[in-house]
Amino acid sequence: MRPGTLQLQSLPPLSLYIHLPWCLKKCPYCDFNSHEWSATSEPGQPLPESRYLDALRADLEASLPLIWGRTVHSVFIGGGTPSLFSPAAIDRLLGDVRALLRLDADAEITLEANPGTFEKDRFRAFREAGVTRLSIGVQSFNDVHLKALGRVHDRDQAMAAVEEAAQAFDTFNLDLMYALPGQTLADCEADVRTALSFAPPHISIYHLTLEPNTYFAKYPPALPPEDEAWDMLDRITELTGEAGLQRYEVSAYARAGHRSWHNTNYWQFGDY
Ligand SMILES: C[S@@+](CC[C@H](N)C(=O)[O-])C[C@H]1O[C@@H](n2cnc3c(N)ncnc32)[C@H](O)[C@@H]1O
Ligand code: SF4
Repeated sequence: MRPGTLQLQSLPPLSLYIHLPWCLKKCPYCDFNSHEWSATSEPGQPLPESRYLDALRADLEASLPLIWGRTVHSVFIGGGTPSLFSPAAIDRLLGDVRALLRLDADAEITLEANPGTFEKDRFRAFREAGVTRLSIGVQSFNDVHLKALGRVHDRDQAMAAVEEAAQAFDTFNLDLMYALPGQTLADCEADVRTALSFAPPHISIYHLTLEPNTYFAKYPPALPPEDEAWDMLDRITELTGEAGLQRYEVSAYARAGHRSWHNTNYWQFGDY
């Protein structure tokens, strides 16, 4: 917002990222700003939804002078595991956003969700609260690899969650990971084929990386050699291409709530 060498003819469209930092369990590879709820609270305590929403609202109000009069085109509610929040809490959050900001009438509103049964049964209520796009953290459809990643869901739950998302939302994304402990090229291909069988409009595929300060950094699992990981990526690119999904972003990225850079491990496929 300060005068500088970059002179824009008009201000670029805005997107809003909202971070909900809690998870049921911390995954051993994850260095996102995400925290196991039971480890940060008294046993049996519910998530502090109301207090956190109050804090988010105060934060947004304090930032408003930076963006007066500008329109927000998309909202991304990420985590953590935002689907742990109740639909009523997401409804209140989006109500606050609409009250404080000028939000496009057809703004895309994405919520990140884990594929547990508990979450799947709330998908339609999230849709009713105003979420238009669900991003589901599937990671793999193979029970052996899901276990190696310390995930709290299994293949059947992942399949059921994707089916439900495809029915309940305008559009959806799947997160997959590859180059997993013990994964072969055939395993990777099977995961991608299963993902594509749901005709997802968008897939984000992450090369598993060992991030500093994670459990995997301390106790590294045996990973496929680099050549095999490249073969997997080539196969992923072929299969997604055959399914009509364009690779439009290869990125090193950082975002609000994320402490470090993931280098060249993130690939986006879709019609963007
Ligand atoms: C913030 S996580 C959120 C989604 C949701 N909490 C979940 O786990 O399903 C976003 C995505 O980052 C990817 N990711 C996280 N840590 C990673 C790592 N060390 N290497 C590669 N991908 C990673 C996973 O695919 C995950 O779905
Ligand atoms: S990968 Fe997702 S569920 Fe696992 S700890 Fe990270 S944010 Fe939470």
